[in-house]
Amino acid sequence: MSKASELARRLIREHDLPDEGLYTLIAERDAESRAALKEAAGDLARSIYGRKIFIRGLIEFTNYCKNNCLYCGIRRGNQKADRYRLTQEEILACCEAGYGLGFRTFVLQGGEDPYFTDERLCAITAAIRERFPDCAITLSCGERSRESYERLWQAGANRYLLRHETASKSHYQKLHPPEMSWDNRVQCLYTLREIGYQVGCGMMVGSPFQTTEDLVADLRFMQKLRPHMVGMGPFIAHKDTPFRDRESGSVELTLYLLSIIRLMMPKVLLPATTALGTAMQGGREEGILCGANVIMPNLSPPSARDKYMLYDNKLRSGAEAAENIANLRENLMKVGYDIAVDRGDSLVL
Ligand code: 5AD
Repeated sequence: MSKASELARRLIREHDLPDEGLYTLIAERDAESRAALKEAAGDLARSIYGRKIFIRGLIEFTNYCKNNCLYCGIRRGNQKADRYRLTQEEILACCEAGYGLGFRTFVLQGGEDPYFTDERLCAITAAIRERFPDCAITLSCGERSRESYERLWQAGANRYLLRHETASKSHYQKLHPPEMSWDNRVQCLYTLREIGYQVGCGMMVGSPFQTTEDLVADLRFMQKLRPHMVGMGPFIAHKDTPFRDRESGSVELTLYLLSIIRLMMPKVLLPATTALGTAMQGGREEGILCGANVIMPNLSPPSARDKYMLYDNKLRSGAEAAENIANLRENLMKVGYDIAVDRGDSLVL
């Protein structure tokens, strides 16, 4: 048996490995270790969540961003991005449509847009909370102050997604301009958890300069933070960013890491991301077979979908679109799964 498949078997039994073990499991992965992890992670997810996939309606409410992350299509420096922001009424209309389609979680995601002051964002959150008392409200709008996170929590938000992007500070500095701080980002995650949010962190797989050591650091970081959700997809270049000529992240490695994360953090909410579906046809279904249990279809108005381009060719139609939920259900049925109807709160304490 290969070194990697021996380590896979140990991870399946013990749900953890020493650093060197994780390193080798990733660096020396082979067909045998891949198959073992996929089967065990799929079984584990099914034993906890059944064959039900949680859905979250994603509302991309602004593509203005004050940050200049080197990988991201809506970075401040991208003059070609056609900027938009949704009004409160437009956002509520998205929720209304989503509610009718069966969504009980709304994810408000946007760039770090200074227009959305605490006052404006709290008003939007409170309006959604009032109109949809049985729904979870997830925010995903970057680094803000503790006071801001507290006010949004008071206004009715329940969950917050903020990918850590990489657990290695030196790697972080290669992906972001000098004015951005890894320490602040990580502090935000701990603050959010303290306030009571269910939090999601995560990273891209195959981002420029990423090493296997960095991925091991990501796994350790997540074990320590104990997030409720981990969002992870392959890096995909955007033509109007400094990383335009960089190779995309590997779908195969993304799937492998999904399985490792499921095994290390059995109850975590693990989305099969849009980036995974973009990088490979049927990628999200394969993600589910490898241990993922969440899908986040797009509820944004069509005009916004075209403009919220984090990377090239981002999926925005077909089963990716919330209005095609029947289509999504069909695709899930083909691999033996169905859509869950509840809010899908985290089981992680
Ligand atoms: N490829 C893949 N994912 C990306 N993101 C941003 N740009 C890209 C890209 N080029 C991810 C980041 C961010 C999330 C909203 O989208 O991890 O946190």
